[in-house]
Amino acid sequence: MPPSANVADVPRTLFAGIATSYDWPAQVFSLFQYRRWHRLLLSRLQLSPPARVLDMATGTGAVALQLAQRPGIEVAACDITRPMLLQAKALASRDGQPRTIDLIECTAEAVPFPDTTFDAVIFTYLLRYVSDVPATLHELASVLRPGGTMASLDFAVPGGLAYHLWRVHTDAVLPLGGALLSPAWRRVGGFLGPSIRQFCQRWPQPRLLDLWRQCGFRDVRAKRLSLGGALVMWGTKSK
Ligand SMILES: C[S@@+](CC[C@H](N)C(=O)[O-])C[C@H]1O[C@@H](n2cnc3c(N)ncnc32)[C@H](O)[C@@H]1O
Repeated sequence: MPPSANVADVPRTLFAGIATSYDWPAQVFSLFQYRRWHRLLLSRLQLSPPARVLDMATGTGAVALQLAQRPGIEVAACDITRPMLLQAKALASRDGQPRTIDLIECTAEAVPFPDTTFDAVIFTYLLRYVSDVPATLHELASVLRPGGTMASLDFAVPGGLAYHLWRVHTDAVLPLGGALLSPAWRRVGGFLGPSIRQFCQRWPQPRLLDLWRQCGFRDVRAKRLSLGGALVMWGTKSK
């Protein structure tokens, strides 16, 4: 079922304004952890070519473009925000490397592929934007073949001493840094901290792990990175 207009408007409004300038601020604001988190996510996939991968919430295609460079890997890169996909398209054609990548505008809440289409499904920074987290996870699981891997990445709230540093980063550094860049980045900088905190209160790690199992995944694992500020989760779809 498609999300209500209001729910879809939040990411579209946020990301349309930063699409052409997304990549380097994402690196800086993540304290240069952004690529490292992507690498860990990709290392969880067991892909033997030829293989088809769905990258949902691909944004400017940072992960999809890396994957599509591998021989025999075909990538469907999906996102709800057209300007992000246009930027992914521009980046894909910039360095002239041969890649098999399709860019598709859609919502994760209604994935436009038949069941069991993909050998792997990944999504990054997605679930905070959807109206129904369990329904979205079920939807993404349905297009994965049994035995395939699903892996996700999102921000998380660190514990202990790191929590106080994280609060300074999200309450002050991000809004201020964003404001220095542009009005669109100021909105994103002010949005992120509360969005991450609220999501992690509603969906703490053990509850998310349970949800993955309820969606038909086994061997579900999670790894916290960068003092707990990022969370990678993965599992294998049961046969
Ligand atoms: C922070 S960006 C992440 C982009 C990319 N995955 C990365 O790691 O750099 C989050 C992306 O999620 C997309 N998004 C948000 N809600 C979505 C939905 N319901 N369906 C598909 N994409 C969505 C936004 O448009 C945005 O491009």
